[in-house]
Amino acid sequence: MKLYEKLASDIEEQIARGVFRAGERLPSIRQMSRHHELSITTVVHAYLLLESKGIIESHPQSGYFVREATAAEQPELRISQPIAVSSHVDVSRLVLSTLRSISAHDAIPLGSPYPDPTLFPSEKINRRAYSIARRRTQWGVTDALPPGNPQLIRQIARRYLQNGTPIDPNEIVVTIGATEAINLCLQAVGKTGDTVAVESPTFYAMLHAIERMGMKAIEVATHPQEGIDLDALKEVMDRQPIAACMVMPNFQNPLGFQMPDEKKRALVDLITTRRIPVIENDVYNELYFGDVHPSSLKSYDSEGYVMHCASFSKSLTTASRIGWALPGRYRDQVEKLKFLNTLTTPTFPQLAIAEYLEHDGYEHHLRQVRKLYAQQANMMRAAVHRFFPAGTLTSQPRGGYVLWVELPAGVDSMKLYERALERGITIGPGTMFSVGDTYRNFIRLNYSYAWSREIDEALKTVGQLAADCLRERR
Ligand SMILES: Cc1ncc(COP(=O)(O)O)c(C=O)c1O
Repeated sequence: MKLYEKLASDIEEQIARGVFRAGERLPSIRQMSRHHELSITTVVHAYLLLESKGIIESHPQSGYFVREATAAEQPELRISQPIAVSSHVDVSRLVLSTLRSISAHDAIPLGSPYPDPTLFPSEKINRRAYSIARRRTQWGVTDALPPGNPQLIRQIARRYLQNGTPIDPNEIVVTIGATEAINLCLQAVGKTGDTVAVESPTFYAMLHAIERMGMKAIEVATHPQEGIDLDALKEVMDRQPIAACMVMPNFQNPLGFQMPDEKKRALVDLITTRRIPVIENDVYNELYFGDVHPSSLKSYDSEGYVMHCASFSKSLTTASRIGWALPGRYRDQVEKLKFLNTLTTPTFPQLAIAEYLEHDGYEHHLRQVRKLYAQQANMMRAAVHRFFPAGTLTSQPRGGYVLWVELPAGVDSMKLYERALERGITIGPGTMFSVGDTYRNFIRLNYSYAWSREIDEALKTVGQLAADCLRERR
């Protein structure tokens, strides 16, 4: 072995052992030459060799860095294969107790479903709220009768136009979060005992809506990068009556995929031909990592079978609880159910958000968080692959702020969740995302919080706990 090859091999070993981590800078050529008492040329050759192997990369004027493994190099999640039978849904107790312990603990919030609240432009929204409160002291219920505050409805319609999907403002029904929008849409098109087709895994708000109605869910195979499998969905529809489908085509929680446009179009064609409404949960649509705002199913819908639901909870303010539905041909039923359900949506946050949207630079705020989430998604994936047991697989989010992690079979995510909680760390156990037990060895991690040593350490701890779980099983 030549000298430079020996040096390259030593550095490679150090990287494998975690002495130098992905994204970190290696010592400069001069420092390396001094420490190892080797000529500059030898070090340069060693670095060039490591670069040609794809282990490190040079950043002009900054030096050499350990490369983050690219998405293509990390093994991919497989398409899910759920047992496609319709089942009663009973997940809310588990989800509620998990969310309670997540919020009750002053813990590292890797299990939180919400983004880091410090990223929200809360001061600006509060300023709007104070100003409204000063201007107006009398409020009546009639200020916000369904469909909702006209000023906010106008702003929401403008946002869709700006994002390339013009909508009819008269279709909007303002709701208390996307949760109410989803609940009302499902209630408008189904009844107790009906079956609803969902992605697998699926976000638990969808399962809650089904549970609330005493309906059944049938999970459909879902591709980790393209979304629900349309052939599998057709088969399910051929086999039994389906009252509705519930999907999240943009940055699905927990998988993070963006369904390709042609597939979105094909899904809308399918449900339109069969006259089966689809409830589209689009709460993450503003949080994309690419250059272009993603299309929605709504944008391909000419017959009104798409019931589109969204909110500001993930992109602007969680606490205000403002969402909306664009329920297509079911609009009047949804509006009536909104009235029967909660009468109105509180006026005050509607107005504060409307004024913020009009004056305070929403797009600027979004540009910043999109960039941050895209970077942190990569950092969290790299950290998981560094710290978790061999064989761990991760999703490749295209937007949003959650990572789906498949641990080796045998790791019980409920046990992992409890042990992590004892150490002041929360994670989202996979069992919350399915009616069956399919995702027992999966967890969901939130990467919206500013990257820190604590988060890095927390991931290391979770990785070690997962390795302990595996050892105990053997
Ligand atoms: C995917 C998804 N859908 C819906 C919701 C609920 O939205 P909201 O808080 O606006 O009710 C959440 C919240 O965590 C979510 O992550």
